Amino acid sequence: MRDLNESNVTDAVLNQIGPDTNPRVREILEALIRHAHDFAREVNLTPDELLYTARFIQAVGQISDDKREEGVLLGDILGLSALTEILADKVRVGATESSLLGPFYRDGAPTREMGFDISLGDTEGEAAIVRGKVTDASGAPLAGVTLDLWQVAPNAFYEAQVGQPGDYEDYAYRGKFTTGEPVDYPIPVDGPVGIIIGATGRHNMRPAHLHYLIYKDGYQTIQTELFNEDSEFLDSDAVFGVKASLVIPYQKIEDPARAAEYGIEGSFYEGVFDFTMKDDASARDAAAAYSERASISA
Ligand code: BEZ
Ligand code: FE
Repeated sequence: MRDLNESNVTDAVLNQIGPDTNPRVREILEALIRHAHDFAREVNLTPDELLYTARFIQAVGQISDDKREEGVLLGDILGLSALTEILADKVRVGATESSLLGPFYRDGAPTREMGFDISLGDTEGEAAIVRGKVTDASGAPLAGVTLDLWQVAPNAFYEAQVGQPGDYEDYAYRGKFTTGEPVDYPIPVDGPVGIIIGATGRHNMRPAHLHYLIYKDGYQTIQTELFNEDSEFLDSDAVFGVKASLVIPYQKIEDPARAAEYGIEGSFYEGVFDFTMKDDASARDAAAAYSERASISA
């Protein structure tokens, strides 16, 4: 009979992976088992600590639903989401840099007319216009690109975070192009992720930003964020999403004629950014891909 000990238990587990296992599944699981075992040996993990971890993962699942993804948030605060985007950008060279999806993307946002006010008439905060071009890698403008945009409301919560002060209508602050003035805002710390943030003395703020998912058949999807140049949190984003190329200034425009063009009364802020898409014959509808990606099967 085999006698398990600290050094042979890892191979005992690895040897259980069957010969017909999908090669990518094998690569990921083998590395996960090796690193998890090395980690347990390094920190001398106790049974109670392992049980705490299991309960923590259960709590992450229990607080999650179709509007709140605590698992995504956990990957975000550990810097893993940022790292996977940085690794993926190695094959996306030439396109606008990516950033985090975050836990508050909702597919199914309504298609808005260009110039539509995605605040749905909210009069809090100041108006902001973001304008720019979407081009291919050679600089030629691209028609028929979908820009799926979402941002927090002036109260610093996403519309999907129901039960917060000043709840907003379904899909408010989601849609296209014309936005309210973005603000710095905290990531949620009322769930298990908050335990890690609290235990490590970290702050939970993100610099003000707009989220974009930009897609067109035949081009790589861009999942990115544009950050306000004047935020004090650019160097300490709680989820590590900031890249220098994605930071833009907003200028205050006090020109009644320009405001009237956008149907705005008084002054407004304006940000300008051009996106670059990289062609990829196999790329397809990103919204469908995100829905598929969200479903888990054995
Ligand atoms: C966000 O910007 O929506 C976000 C991203 C990561 C974690 C929490 C919030
Ligand atoms: Fe966000």
